[in-house]
Amino acid sequence: MSLIYKEYDDGFVVRRMRPHETTYIQQWDSDLVPTGRDLDVAINSYSADSDGFYIGEYRGEVVASVIRIPLAEDVFYGSCFYVVEKFRGSGFGRRIRDDVAAGFVGSKTLCVDAHDFLEEMNKKRGYISGYNVVMYKGKPPRKSTALPAGTTLKNALDVSFDKIIDYDNKCFVRPNSPYRYKILKQWIRMEGGKSVVALSTSGDVIALACRRPSVEGRHHIIGPLYAGNILMAQVLVEELCEDLETSSQGDMIWLNMRESSERVKQLVRLLDLEGDLRMLRMYLNGDLGDLNHDVFAVTSVDFCGY
Ligand SMILES: CC(C)(COP(=O)(O)OP(=O)(O)OC[C@H]1O[C@@H](n2cnc3c(N)ncnc32)[C@H](O)[C@@H]1OP(=O)(O)O)[C@@H](O)C(=O)NCCC(=O)NCCS
Repeated sequence: MSLIYKEYDDGFVVRRMRPHETTYIQQWDSDLVPTGRDLDVAINSYSADSDGFYIGEYRGEVVASVIRIPLAEDVFYGSCFYVVEKFRGSGFGRRIRDDVAAGFVGSKTLCVDAHDFLEEMNKKRGYISGYNVVMYKGKPPRKSTALPAGTTLKNALDVSFDKIIDYDNKCFVRPNSPYRYKILKQWIRMEGGKSVVALSTSGDVIALACRRPSVEGRHHIIGPLYAGNILMAQVLVEELCEDLETSSQGDMIWLNMRESSERVKQLVRLLDLEGDLRMLRMYLNGDLGDLNHDVFAVTSVDFCGY
């Protein structure tokens, strides 16, 4: 039996999520947009008794979820806020999120990517609005872009992880996060996925991109996509997509990117991507400001929006 955080008189219970229950959430999310097994990576990256992964149960049925995950000492990311349709509007969302999960965050900074219609509800609770994060989708591009002179591409598995994390430290919301270290280590080994890095002449990692498959359909999610410039970002995406099919029934790629960035706009044009789901980045207990310059696509809006 997993830990119970709170029991209500009407039978609603908030308890710790069990690892196999990530499938409920992945199924719920898949009804909206292609979703990978990101939450499995997340739950495996934290100790089994760690807080942050919440399930709402009503009369034995799993009906709600929310997660609040520390990405660094002082930064949390929140997502997977969901209540099964027939139970919406009766306070289950408020209970799991505000009564239970909020306590784990305390006064630390929480970052979420929210649907527009929840902006007011979040503002009432003290959140402030940041920028729009959009899921862009498109056909896998074919290789057409030359690698910048002096650089080489490698599969991330063939490069020292310390070099990868050195570069990641420069781009991620906080450097030297032990959580990020564990997440990224699993991330580049994801089944059915592919990760590539670019190396400078001196052998340092200067760009990183990871791809993983969705739970359903021929969709592939790309993130993080970290690179110093647009050309390098394009080369990495082309390299990641080399084995994907471009036919009309073929594969689709998806990237979560900051809509207002000029660099992102150019990359979207070059890769012929189209905007799909738009979310609003919001913060509680502080404003984390802009994403790092090298962040073209964030890691995952399911658990790590940096
Ligand atoms: C969003 C969601 C989790 C809310 O759960 P719920 O149990 O219906 O919510 P509650 O009844 O506890 O209401 C919680 C608050 O959300 C607000 N809210 C709920 N649904 C809303 C909607 N569609 N539009 C605007 N506000 C909404 C309520 O007004 C309430 O605000 P208040 O406490 O300040 O009065 C649920 O509607 C859902 O699963 N939606 C689909 C998935 C989704 O959009 N998730 C959010 C991702 S950012």
